Amino acid sequence: MHKIQRQLHTDHYHLQRLLDCFSYEIDCYDFDSKRSADLDIILSALDYIQTYPDKWHHPTEDIIFSRLLKKRVKESPLIEQLQDEHQDIIEATEKIQELFNSVAEDCIVSADELLTRSRNYVKLQKRHLEKENEHVYPLMDSMFNENEWREIEKEIQTQNDPLFNNPSKKGYDHLYRYILDLEKSKQD
Ligand SMILES: [Fe+2]
Ligand SMILES: [Fe+2]
Repeated sequence: MHKIQRQLHTDHYHLQRLLDCFSYEIDCYDFDSKRSADLDIILSALDYIQTYPDKWHHPTEDIIFSRLLKKRVKESPLIEQLQDEHQDIIEATEKIQELFNSVAEDCIVSADELLTRSRNYVKLQKRHLEKENEHVYPLMDSMFNENEWREIEKEIQTQNDPLFNNPSKKGYDHLYRYILDLEKSKQD
């Protein structure tokens, strides 16, 4: 497996873990929750999504997906839909971030609105990932030879994941420790 392909797979695994933690915090806005939400964690998670998946992961997929479209694969309609969703996700992240920024600035937002919009956002992200995993990622194994991967590599500037790869240096150490602790508490 080419290293870019491997990084995309790893990104999906990491993003799922992040979204699970985000969902856990969002559940605090449910009427019967006895916990209160950690706004720092929510904002940090959204900041990370804007910094890495929205800036590197989706644009990298766009480059690869365009090459698959040129090969006229039968999954082309779905690939076009996924490219549109990249834009939808970037916009949705901005809107959810605005929403939680207004909460941080003490604006009154109903718990119901926070819950509904956040859950819809997580659903959009997860469905997108699942469609890619199931229908498009397997194509990368069969559709590109080594030469084509070299061409793709020239178009893509690899980037380090600032949360899961090197958390202590980029200001996500608190979020990273939170994710590990939460995962551990779920196993116990
Ligand atoms: Fe994608
Ligand atoms: Fe993806």
